[in-house]
Amino acid sequence: MPLVCLTDFQAYAQEHLSKSTWDFIEGGSDECFTRDDNIAAFKRIRLRPRYLRDVREVNTRTTVQGEEVTAPICIAPTGFHGLVWPDGEMSTARAAQAAGICYIISTYASCSLEDIVATAPRGLKWFQLYATSDRQLNKQLVQRAEALGFKALVITVDTPKMGNRRCDFRNQLDLQRNLLLKDLRSPKERHTTPYFQMSPIDSSFCWNDITWLQSLTRLRIILKGILTKEDAELAVKHNVHGIIVSNHGGRQLDDVPASIDALTEVVAAVKGKMEVYLDGGIRTGNDVLKALALGAKCVFLGRPILWGLAYKLSSNFTDTLVLPAAVDSTPRTNTQHLRRMFFMLLFVSPQPPSWKQGEHGVEEVLNLIKNEFHTSMSLTGCRSVAEINQDLVQFSRL
Ligand code: FNR
Repeated sequence: MPLVCLTDFQAYAQEHLSKSTWDFIEGGSDECFTRDDNIAAFKRIRLRPRYLRDVREVNTRTTVQGEEVTAPICIAPTGFHGLVWPDGEMSTARAAQAAGICYIISTYASCSLEDIVATAPRGLKWFQLYATSDRQLNKQLVQRAEALGFKALVITVDTPKMGNRRCDFRNQLDLQRNLLLKDLRSPKERHTTPYFQMSPIDSSFCWNDITWLQSLTRLRIILKGILTKEDAELAVKHNVHGIIVSNHGGRQLDDVPASIDALTEVVAAVKGKMEVYLDGGIRTGNDVLKALALGAKCVFLGRPILWGLAYKLSSNFTDTLVLPAAVDSTPRTNTQHLRRMFFMLLFVSPQPPSWKQGEHGVEEVLNLIKNEFHTSMSLTGCRSVAEINQDLVQFSRL
């Protein structure tokens, strides 16, 4: 059966990923109130379509930080794509390049920045930084991203420490043990001693450190995770170039507002002095339209990209393997899942599937939501992104 919406990809991923990987991707913090509200809040907003306009030509193109993208739908940083597909972020980067959109690569990518850039050299890429307590490492990471041609630095501000992800505790998920860790340092600075990728996040990181980072790089700086007008005003004072209104997909502090509910306050506070973006709960073209109507310049997708990455993995196995074990969905630990995946890719398949196929599922997810957004624009009478404005939405009294 064809997958016709993003939640079809979600169901497919749930069926085919190991339980602990699925829980890691899908999980929120504490009671998951904010994670679920991110989606519910979009449903409390209704659309006010305008008709009798000529919508034969609808153009979804726009710009982010001055760079053109084919639609205001880009990829949020999510770590550990290697859990889902062997070449992880490299597949994601190729899909983003093919789609002509921006991809924010996480500090916790499973692949090195050099490999990601080499596989998708033309794609628009931003680098997301979790500031670690090792200042030299922060400096080196930022300058390396700049030298590699990344166009912006996204600093995640909502993670002075990790949120309480109950599922991961229950599954005793240990990403450091389960993943083949890459070395965060640049190739020429590496030594033979093992280096732990997940050096602790710096919980003392504050506004002064933003100024310090600005002194190290010419990259545009974007703050991810701002939810209040007070912090938005401070962002303006500190001359950053953009804000991503985000609650980390409900994975950090629970009981904060849905991203779409926080957007208006932040947009009003920055008074047009910088671009404001949004992530969290975007699942349909209508969601994109609502976010833009309320002032977002562009939205970013988190989990749906990982669902797309999981798609070709499983269907590929069913296509090329006759072993029933290859298509079962027995719950496995991440280590078992990874071992099975590598074993099957390298030794079992009569025609080893290309590692590149991970990108096709991501491309399908992106095409689907871009087409939905095109339909949403047509059905509300918007011929260009510039025509999307607040008159298109009303808040439901439900
Ligand atoms: C994330 N997110 C995230 N954010 C970040 O700044 N750095 C990171 O490494 C990660 N890693 C990460 C892993 C996984 C599995 C998820 C689901 C999320 C948060 C992410 O950038 C984004 O804010 C949310 O995922 C957006 O919500 P949706 O689209 O998942 O609803």
